[in-house]
Amino acid sequence: MRKIEISSKFNVYPSLKDTPVQVQKLMLKAIEAREKAYAPYSKFNVGAAVLLDNGKIVTGNNQENASYPSGLCAERTAVYAANANFPESKMRILTITAASCRKETEIPIPPCGACRQVIAEYETRQDAPIEIYFMGKKGEVVCSESLANLLPFIFDKSAL
Ligand code: THU
Repeated sequence: MRKIEISSKFNVYPSLKDTPVQVQKLMLKAIEAREKAYAPYSKFNVGAAVLLDNGKIVTGNNQENASYPSGLCAERTAVYAANANFPESKMRILTITAASCRKETEIPIPPCGACRQVIAEYETRQDAPIEIYFMGKKGEVVCSESLANLLPFIFDKSAL
């Protein structure tokens, strides 16, 4: 028997204004996207913005459906749109913000497991880290320098 230990490190900023200016600008795009989220069922609005290596920004927000499982998270909406439109570009930074209509969302909201798996696909494919910044509506911003930090024991194409 052997043991494997996996540890992850994250950078935590007290607020958005403490993050690099480039990140602040990208998070503002995610906030704009969040405000246009279609989330009539959960009332939990999420916005995401991806900065590509060609300088383009692609945004997404959660899209819900009366048939609940048919909806899609903001992060996947954004990264799928990014890869659909710019398949040759690498994703550099992803910003995420979430705000509930029911309560003040002050804790950083990380991407769900399914979104982590999808982001992992692109990080593996481009062989370069995607920096991920996530926050609530206000408050602290968490930075993961790579998706890999958020998804230990990643499942990827090397298994197939
Ligand atoms: N949601 C996201 O957009 N991203 C996540 O990472 C977690 C959850 C959405 C899905 C659903 O529309 C709502 O938030 C409540 O789960």
